[in-house]
Amino acid sequence: MGLSLLAYVLLAATGIWLFYSRQQRQGRPKWLRPFHYGVGGTMVLMVVLLLAIGLVGTVGYYGNLGHSAHLPVGLTVVALTLLSAWSATQINPKRPWARPLHVGTNITLLLGFIAVSLTGWNIVQKYLP
Ligand code: HEM
Ligand code: HEM
Repeated sequence: MGLSLLAYVLLAATGIWLFYSRQQRQGRPKWLRPFHYGVGGTMVLMVVLLLAIGLVGTVGYYGNLGHSAHLPVGLTVVALTLLSAWSATQINPKRPWARPLHVGTNITLLLGFIAVSLTGWNIVQKYLP
């Protein structure tokens, strides 16, 4: 989860950089776009991994799912992450809706990350003495 958050912060920073360099019609370093892309791919992997750990761990322990709001919130986060990655691949001059969709999903994703951390942390509390 820490790595996902680190990836998110890096993506926000490099994404805002991409935005300004486009607004100001300035050049951007050549590595900036592939870097943003690479960190994005890493974040997708981390989130899918967390989903797998959460599902497998819970099924293995209880034999079923759905003990708390953590499940729907977790699934929403994964869906938003995939939507964000997909919308990113659609960003080009022919698809003017892709860019706002990418930025919009990512702002929503921040709320999702906060919610999944709070609900996850809530479960952890129950296991502490
Ligand atoms: C899910 C993985 C992600 C991938 C694969 C990805 C990929 C991309 C790509 C390909 C672009 C277009 C770059 C260009 O114009 O040349 C882009 C732009 C951008 N991304 Fe991402 N991104 C991801 C996640 C994020 C996240 C989490 C944020 C913010 C927290 C973010 C913020 C931005 C912003 C602000 C832009 C610039 C939009 C503009 O120029 O108006 N991205 N991203
Ligand atoms: C993107 C991030 C995350 C995703 C997608 C995710 C997903 C999931 C899912 C789908 C489950 C099964 C829940 C159920 O069936 O009730 C689960 C279980 C669990 N998750 Fe997460 N999770 C994430 C982050 C976290 C974080 C940050 C924490 C701790 C702070 C956490 C702690 C837990 C715990 C303790 C369980 C066991 C549930 C139980 O015993 O009822 N998760 N996770």
